[in-house]
Amino acid sequence: MNPSILGIETSCDETAAAVYANNKIQSNIIFSQVDLHQLYGGVVPEIASRSHIEKINTIVAQALAQSKIGLNEIDIVAVTNRPGLPGSLLIGVCFAKALAWVKKKPIIGIDHLEGHAFSTFLEYDVPFPHLCLTASGGHTSLYLIHDFGKYDVLGTTLDDAAGEAFDKIAKLINLPYPGGPIIEKLAKKVNFEDFFHYPRSMGNQLDFSFSGLKTAILYDLVKKNLYNLSTKKLSPNMSENIKEQIASSLLVCINDIFIQKIELAIKQFPQVRAVTFVGGVASNKFVKENIQKIAEKNNKLFFSPSSQYCTDNAAMIAFVGSYKAKQGIFSDYNLDILKNE
Ligand code: KG4
Ligand code: ZN
Repeated sequence: MNPSILGIETSCDETAAAVYANNKIQSNIIFSQVDLHQLYGGVVPEIASRSHIEKINTIVAQALAQSKIGLNEIDIVAVTNRPGLPGSLLIGVCFAKALAWVKKKPIIGIDHLEGHAFSTFLEYDVPFPHLCLTASGGHTSLYLIHDFGKYDVLGTTLDDAAGEAFDKIAKLINLPYPGGPIIEKLAKKVNFEDFFHYPRSMGNQLDFSFSGLKTAILYDLVKKNLYNLSTKKLSPNMSENIKEQIASSLLVCINDIFIQKIELAIKQFPQVRAVTFVGGVASNKFVKENIQKIAEKNNKLFFSPSSQYCTDNAAMIAFVGSYKAKQGIFSDYNLDILKNE
């Protein structure tokens, strides 16, 4: 019999709970704190932790109710315990431990990034081995995935994550947080054209680097008299149309970097049968379609989760919990958060 798993995710600014049972997701509840952080142009850790405390009980109760599986029928609690904001992680881990201990259920600590990397399996049966590009607000990594829980990190970002680049550059030109969705919307208005040819910073081999892009855009704006470095404000010359052109050029630039890295990885690992694209940035239709084209051009299958499983969610955490349980990998009630590397 397959165990029923309650997944809990609070690593950043989403309070999420989900139930995975009978080999499928039975419920997936997410409370996004975006509105709370928008004023500050990014996630404020203290606000995030406080909001998790307020919401977690209700969100878990909703996930159980929607799944029609009562707490007594839950066999295992799976909770994100790394990496993430320490205060936020602690809320989920303490809540999960208390629940598991009271109900005398096993608990499994889950790596958030492993959750993203295997999130495609919530909807698809992806063949092994495959390449996985994870791009989110906190991470950008390329994996070679051999099996459930077995993977090599081929490359990672040396500085900012791709989502972070969208968020920071959006903030620079006075667009709201999170930057990714609004940048995609503006870029679409000008047909995803590359107006400014921002530098494609390549990092080493399969690693990424995005912080230079932010600086390059900043200095390009200064040079064009669109940004005042001493007041740190946009100049009155900045128009909506220029913002659309910046958004479009930025999106095309990050898209090109992803495509080049994926092609390079396919060359190095021709045995892969598929390419997957996951994490918050994988909500981006433009990039998704382009990665699909490059995968298919190289005779690889392509998979990417639907939007609800791209951004942070507990369904992916519950799913990882399900295969860890099958592999006999459990934590104990001393489970703690692990610090970011
Ligand atoms: O996976 P996620 O929800 O949280 C982290 O683990 O970080 O990813 C959030 C990130 C944000 O940086 C946001 O700007 C980006 O995903 N994002 C997008 C899009 N939707 C969300 N980036 C590009 N295009 C989008 N449509
Ligand atoms: Zn994430």
